[in-house]
Amino acid sequence: GRHLIEPGDFQLNEIESIMQLADNIIADPEGYSLVCKGKLLASLFYEPSTRTRFSFEAAMLRLGGEIIGFDDPNNSSVSKGESLGDTIRTIECYSDIAVIRHPREGTARLVSKFANEMPIINAGDGGHEHPTQTLTDLLTIRKFKGGCDNHVVGVCGDLLFGRTIHSLVKMLNRYKGVRFVFISPTELKMPTHILNQLDSKTYNETTSLDEVIGELDILYMSRVQRERFVSEEEYLRLKNYYILDKKKMKGAKQDMIVMHPLPRVNEIATEVDEDPRAVYFTQAKYGMYVRMALITKLLGVEDRK
Ligand code: CP
Repeated sequence: GRHLIEPGDFQLNEIESIMQLADNIIADPEGYSLVCKGKLLASLFYEPSTRTRFSFEAAMLRLGGEIIGFDDPNNSSVSKGESLGDTIRTIECYSDIAVIRHPREGTARLVSKFANEMPIINAGDGGHEHPTQTLTDLLTIRKFKGGCDNHVVGVCGDLLFGRTIHSLVKMLNRYKGVRFVFISPTELKMPTHILNQLDSKTYNETTSLDEVIGELDILYMSRVQRERFVSEEEYLRLKNYYILDKKKMKGAKQDMIVMHPLPRVNEIATEVDEDPRAVYFTQAKYGMYVRMALITKLLGVEDRK
């Protein structure tokens, strides 16, 4: 099977083809309503989720497929000590595709080795990667900015633990003329192993959102990832470091877009939601369509339309 564990697993032309299919599905959802008839998706969430889980499940149902999963991972046999490898081998006996979210980095890659035919999709592994959020983000950028090349992209918040950010930066780095402005407290800077993958001329780092907001075409906000902190005190000290409000938005370009993978806590004031530049709920909506496209491609059922 073909897996999606991190952005590098797909060539840029394959990513573009998923985007194109997502566009086709948005234009004609009825046309795709049976392409996954008879197919089963296993939804394996070992960590909380709202958007990723429901958008995957909604995607499979809207493609005419069906889903299985546990309400609570404590109700699976992993709580009796079963390995995830054995779990995946078992799930493969009766599923066509599996989506897994797990708090431990590398879990999706690890379990993919136990799947013979069944594609595995990484729905987030600890602070590491979240590639289907990246597909959602790319579709949003294409829709609002016409394409992914030549943008100045501000990435703000918890750049250390934010897996959506790690996947997005690696992906956007493959497009032409993208420049990054990394905005974070010094304690939550972008990890060196990711900075090392970038050309040093393509990014700068700062702690001040106010100083750079006027340069940005895209501002990607993120939540301080409480669940990854060792010290609650450190989390409490950093959690409200950036709060994007109407006043800050006055300094931004008229055509800048504000993105956020959600969930948000305090980092975007709700007063910003009514600003036409705030696109994060549309971004969440695109999540279902892009996952419909991904499932269709991985199952090879596009021609059933
Ligand atoms: N963006 C995202 O992954 O949201 P959930 O954690 O709610 O799935």
